[in-house]
Amino acid sequence: MELKRILEKYPKRQDCLIDVLLDVQNTKSTRHLTEVELARVSEHLGLPESHVFSVVSFYSFFSMTPRGKHILQVCRDVPCYLNDTFNVHETLESMLGIKTGDTTEDGLFTLEYSSCLGCCDQAPVMRVNDTVYGNLTPDKLRAIISECRSDDDA
Ligand code: FES
Repeated sequence: MELKRILEKYPKRQDCLIDVLLDVQNTKSTRHLTEVELARVSEHLGLPESHVFSVVSFYSFFSMTPRGKHILQVCRDVPCYLNDTFNVHETLESMLGIKTGDTTEDGLFTLEYSSCLGCCDQAPVMRVNDTVYGNLTPDKLRAIISECRSDDDA
């Protein structure tokens, strides 16, 4: 089982929690965590389940809902909000035909909010899976979406 293999890679130390959770989540095509997985991680690291759940709830890069192949997380913290010369969320919702929090029917895209991504000088900013894009414009968003779609065709 994949989860067992992942857990065996990590020492039973509490400071491994985020790395273990990311590893578990990122090996799944749905990029989400289940209650069973949280319980197994909790048991492996000797942490209360409530603590593991609170960490997953706190960080926007974790999800307990199945997501699409490309997870678009748009920063909504103050610097990005103030530099948002256009509404990034509304533009993406219109391009993808979904609302924030939803996944496209073809399973390609999930649109989410994010807290600060650490690139405030490039606001407005969003992350697509592990890649951060800054200085967003409507044209840049179209190019990013197109690139994601062409990656899927390859
Ligand atoms: S506020 Fe958006 S990246 Fe920091």
